[in-house]
Amino acid sequence: MPFPVIFTGGINPLLWKPVVAIGAFNLPSYDFDLTPFLGMVLDEKDHVFSIGVTDGIKYWLVDANLHIWLDSSSTIVEAKNVVNIYPESEISRSEEFQSLDGSFQIKAEKFTRLEGWVKSSSGNLTTSILQEVKFTSAIKFKRKGTYKTFKQNIEVRREAKVLNDVGGLVSRVIVKRKYPLKVITVTLPGSKNDTSVLVTNVTHAVNERVKNGKLSSHVINKQVSNGWMEVRDHSVLSGEAMTNQTYVCRDELGCYVRTVATLNGRLIKDNTAYACPSLV
Ligand SMILES: *[C@@H]1O[C@H](CO)[C@@H](O)[C@H](O)[C@H]1NC(C)=O
Ligand SMILES: *[C@@H]1O[C@H](CO)[C@@H](O)[C@H](O)[C@H]1NC(C)=O
Ligand SMILES: *[C@@H]1O[C@H](CO)[C@@H](O)[C@H](O)[C@H]1NC(C)=O
Ligand SMILES: *[C@@H]1O[C@H](CO)[C@@H](O)[C@H](O)[C@H]1NC(C)=O
Repeated sequence: MPFPVIFTGGINPLLWKPVVAIGAFNLPSYDFDLTPFLGMVLDEKDHVFSIGVTDGIKYWLVDANLHIWLDSSSTIVEAKNVVNIYPESEISRSEEFQSLDGSFQIKAEKFTRLEGWVKSSSGNLTTSILQEVKFTSAIKFKRKGTYKTFKQNIEVRREAKVLNDVGGLVSRVIVKRKYPLKVITVTLPGSKNDTSVLVTNVTHAVNERVKNGKLSSHVINKQVSNGWMEVRDHSVLSGEAMTNQTYVCRDELGCYVRTVATLNGRLIKDNTAYACPSLV
């Protein structure tokens, strides 16, 4: 499930200067563990791997790097895909409107379970991957369509487990991610006939917990932005904006926190600390 990146022209362009929205200058990468599928490609024939985005708009630009580990200590590697469960996403959509006011709602869930064993010089290891994704989105229009709220939440839980041939646990990684996003846009009359004022508040975050065996880490990266702009068609005539960002990373080695505040295109605060208050 991709993180919803807001680009520098998004919602209110004044919010994203000099700090851009999370991921805008550094699009997140995603890892897909293909180990459970290895058995399908060890037949000395050509195979094609492709990736795409399901249940969304048709147009996505995606590319990928394929990482392959070769076993130099054995002449033959055997593998088999034993579980391959990926039912269609469960999606429900609803809408309700009276004139210009109303709401759209989407709820979706997706579940994937993959398992395969690989017998190499490291032994016969079984990799199983379990992923659950939950998505909710609600857009509401009030006050004759001039007060819009958008609330979206994405939750992903992914578990990758490797067992040896006697059922002993070799490794277990659990990743939990939450991507909440909330936008409020209020449209008001502008100072001129043909202008309008948009008041926008945006809050979004990445909240990621990783457990790898006995080690664990927690990252919260959150932005709160408020602003307004007067616009004519697609041109921004004037406005004000502030964005505050807090990044907290905590693991066995300690905690790091950085808080940044911007106001009207200028940095007004940038503090770093290696001890966290009870933020997490
Ligand atoms: C590897 O382990 C799996 C699960 O224990 C087993 O089903 C499979 O037969 C084993 N493969 C080999 C080549 O021994
Ligand atoms: C504002 O709107 C009125 C009525 O539609 C029009 O007569 C007037 O010329 C407009 N003024 C400007 C500055 O566009
Ligand atoms: C936007 O945020 C500001 C500051 O937190 C708040 O005063 C204002 O009421 C918010 N606007 C809306 C429409 O919620
Ligand atoms: C952003 O940070 C500044 C400086 O710390 C603070 O004055 C302001 O209230 C904060 N704004 C929001 C919306 O949290």
